[in-house]
Amino acid sequence: MLGICVVQSVLERVYLVVMRSMLLLSMLFVGGSSRAVQGTLINTYHGVPITAQTILELTPSPTVTLQHAITVWLYAYKPLIMALVHAPVHDAPNVLKERSDVLNECIRSCGLQNVSKWNFVMPVELTVDGELKRYLVKIAGPVNRRENYNKLLGKSASSVIALSEYQSLVATHRTATYQHISRVACWLRLREWYMQNLQAQIFVPRVYLIHIPGQPSMVSDENYIVLEEWVNSIGTPDTHPHIFLAALSDLKRAAAYAGLWDIASKQFVITQDNKVAPIDFELPHDCNPEDFFNGNAEKCAVIVRAGQNGLDSLAHTLQKAQQKAARSTFTATCRQWIYALMRIFTIHRSPRSGQQ
Ligand SMILES: Nc1ncnc2c1ncn2[C@@H]1O[C@H](COP(=O)(O)OP(=O)(O)OP(=O)(O)O)[C@@H](O)[C@H]1O
Ligand SMILES: [Mg+2]
Repeated sequence: MLGICVVQSVLERVYLVVMRSMLLLSMLFVGGSSRAVQGTLINTYHGVPITAQTILELTPSPTVTLQHAITVWLYAYKPLIMALVHAPVHDAPNVLKERSDVLNECIRSCGLQNVSKWNFVMPVELTVDGELKRYLVKIAGPVNRRENYNKLLGKSASSVIALSEYQSLVATHRTATYQHISRVACWLRLREWYMQNLQAQIFVPRVYLIHIPGQPSMVSDENYIVLEEWVNSIGTPDTHPHIFLAALSDLKRAAAYAGLWDIASKQFVITQDNKVAPIDFELPHDCNPEDFFNGNAEKCAVIVRAGQNGLDSLAHTLQKAQQKAARSTFTATCRQWIYALMRIFTIHRSPRSGQQ
């Protein structure tokens, strides 16, 4: 069982590394030909560039009662939240993995659950206006934050960060990352598109940027968490391919506008009224404070291309699965008919064979 988990974990990591390498390769490939898309930035909300300085003001605030409920929750779980946002990122991958395991155990011992492999994504229930409502608290994991630091240090994404390097980042106050904050930047764009396309077969859950009480007010992964509305779903595109395929053209337009790039069935849920809800708005892990929220045209071209290709390839996979299912239904029906005919034939033949 442990062996299967390890293999699964390695395969998932390999998948992520391959995805990111493809993104980097396509970045190199697009590099020469991206002049045509220079200027196609996807980093504004209502015309204002989304930056670490503006994102808080641009993001719609929660209602007073929701703000109250999540503040109470954050106070109650403050030691855990601080441990998660400050999870050290130095040392070898196996040490990082052990640290993540310890933190996941802490999450469980607090009666919570982490539903993400590489981040901390915890479903929570909050009483808002007398009603119990579900949300998800989303915090970037140490492996993803390490990739942010490597970008800052000019190293390749998966390089090991030595303790001395990390200490020098701390000493020079360069510990601010925007990895889970990036979810809000992408969401703002998706929300803007959705508000202009309310007839689309898409549902966009609410996302909030919530200050951790007692932390400095500057926006960064250390000082704010992301709170996302829980979507009650009937499944994913894998289980409801026809609904996903019906929404494909809307999804492609929305993804191009918002920079949705990491496409897989598990990044969407199907709502009870048959709409497709994107639920994972995390941007790539190459944090650079100046252009992180899609403020670099070349990077935008790569992100948009990755999203469009990802949607096409998921649609293709789902179509093939649908065709295969249709073929096996057809085969099963044919087989039933043949059996039925054979039974009829046998019944009609048996008296005669008895007479002989
Ligand atoms: N708004 C939502 N409503 C319902 N379920 C959600 C929502 N957001 C996330 N989830 C569930 O939590 C899982 C993890 O969330 P998310 O994709 O945002 O995190 P992640 O760190 O990217 O995880 P992964 O690497 O597994 O994709 C999703 O696959 C989904 O099952
Ligand atoms: Mg995800």
